[in-house]
Amino acid sequence: METYKDKFGQGTASAATMIYDRFRKKESLNGEWHYAVDQYDTCFYQKWYEENYYDESGNLLPVDYSFDEWDTMRLPCCWNTVDRAYLLYEGSMIFTRRFFFEKQNEDERVFLKIGAVNYLCRVYLNKKYVGMHRGGSTPCYFDITDFLEHSNRILIQADSTRRDGQVPPAVTDWFNYGGIYRDIEIIRVPRVHIKNFRIALEPDSGFKKIRAEVLLSEEVNSTAVLTIDELGVRCEIAVENGKGELLFEAAPKLWSPENPKLYKVTLTCGKDTVSDKVGFREIRINGMEILLNGKTLFLRGISCHEDSVRGGKALSDEERREIIRTAKELGCNFMRAAHYPHSEKLSELADEMGLLLWEEIPVYWGVHFDSEDTYNDAENQLCELITRDFNRASVLIWSVGNENQDTDDRLRFMGNLAEFAHKYDPTRAVSAACLVNFAKNAIEDRLEKHLDIIGLNEYCGWYVADFKTLPALFENSNPKKPVIITEFGADAYAGNRGTITDKGTEDCQAFVYEKQIETIRKIGYIKGMTPWILRDFRCPRRTAVTQKYYNTKGLVSAEGKRKMAFYVLQEFYDSIR
Ligand code: GCU
Repeated sequence: METYKDKFGQGTASAATMIYDRFRKKESLNGEWHYAVDQYDTCFYQKWYEENYYDESGNLLPVDYSFDEWDTMRLPCCWNTVDRAYLLYEGSMIFTRRFFFEKQNEDERVFLKIGAVNYLCRVYLNKKYVGMHRGGSTPCYFDITDFLEHSNRILIQADSTRRDGQVPPAVTDWFNYGGIYRDIEIIRVPRVHIKNFRIALEPDSGFKKIRAEVLLSEEVNSTAVLTIDELGVRCEIAVENGKGELLFEAAPKLWSPENPKLYKVTLTCGKDTVSDKVGFREIRINGMEILLNGKTLFLRGISCHEDSVRGGKALSDEERREIIRTAKELGCNFMRAAHYPHSEKLSELADEMGLLLWEEIPVYWGVHFDSEDTYNDAENQLCELITRDFNRASVLIWSVGNENQDTDDRLRFMGNLAEFAHKYDPTRAVSAACLVNFAKNAIEDRLEKHLDIIGLNEYCGWYVADFKTLPALFENSNPKKPVIITEFGADAYAGNRGTITDKGTEDCQAFVYEKQIETIRKIGYIKGMTPWILRDFRCPRRTAVTQKYYNTKGLVSAEGKRKMAFYVLQEFYDSIR
């Protein structure tokens, strides 16, 4: 059976099959899809997608499915939140619908884009297997040109099974939502099209130069034309063997959280045209300082999961706007989108509304650091994330993981990821949320040599009860790079009051924040913090009577109620703006 599974594709959709799709016309396949729970992957093993209704002699065969009579579910969504029967379901579901398609010209290529499927998806179109994708939080693109007919049936298997060899591994501290939970779209492009387009202010150019890079789908020679009307820019980029790059003079108004200035950029090459809305800014690490546009910065942040009571990971645009608005009201200029790539809509809104982001791949806790296949999955998710969000001004830091024991295998695995990120994107900082070196009560992790910024998770006053360990931790440490405290916090059940030592009360959580801030604010090498966490979130590991399957370290309850600690942090951030 495993051989059969292997036959059906090693991740045929990956970073290599992505196309540049921003501001392209898209045809949505969102809406009502028929579905069935497929706990034993029978669709896959019995090839339901081939729809074999008759034997060779034309006799009707018994089948175990009835695609167009199945119940329907409105996609995109997480099945856990649309039907209580599926709240805790983990495994495969099969989604199917029909759609009509008219070719518009002989030259076009047609791609299916799925914004995200947790964790693994297989696509079948008109009785044929198209391909698969691994990775629960990044988009996948399939060239379906040669599969399409006038009347089409598509089947997508979404498999949310947690497996230790995956990224993330089987055990995490968040809820394993399943489903096709971001948009499903058809995108038509010319045969020779713009496969990738990157544009950014050139680091160390005195904010006076912009670099644009274009990659075509074929290794042809051509000329691309880039325009930024508001800057009076129109320049030609010579493309050779499908690649072109140009560094040109320009003096854009710089993007910052306070002034999130965006420019419309347009790139044309041959028959293809793409656009984007881009902010130009420079990030630099200079010794122990983090600089944005040449000015030192303290990152007033907060951590955030992609999670809502209503929709799980399938947040609405309004819910994302509310998250950013709440963070800005808290006094933030920064947010840690933990622990996996959130929707690109978050980084687009952060560009518009003015908020810096830490984006992360889910190399979380006990990853199989000795597995080459696991590494390839992690690197592919990192490459898909960077490819997707390279043009987002708000993204400051790529994080290669969270809270991983400092072992030789982990050092090699995450060191390679960090070096990959540096190489693939020289315009941003690379970090990771590291653990305290408890043997020494110090900030000391061998991964630091691969990072630009050291992220540190410390729970003094919560998991480490004695607050005295906090000043000692910083006194024992002598980091050579800027440090961001990527997690501290405490559980508090909204409305639950008591003394500052009553665990699970708002009073206790507020006290932890007061004591943490009192110490952190005195440490010169700490250049930011993203306390854990903006909002309570679903978590199967949290069963106390004051948690009820929610991690309640939020400053805001899942229903939107602010807790006392929200105002403690807000007061601190207001005092250091
Ligand atoms: C860990 C981890 C989080 C988790 C948090 C907690 O540090 O990074 O994912 O939710 O602590 O224990 O609440």
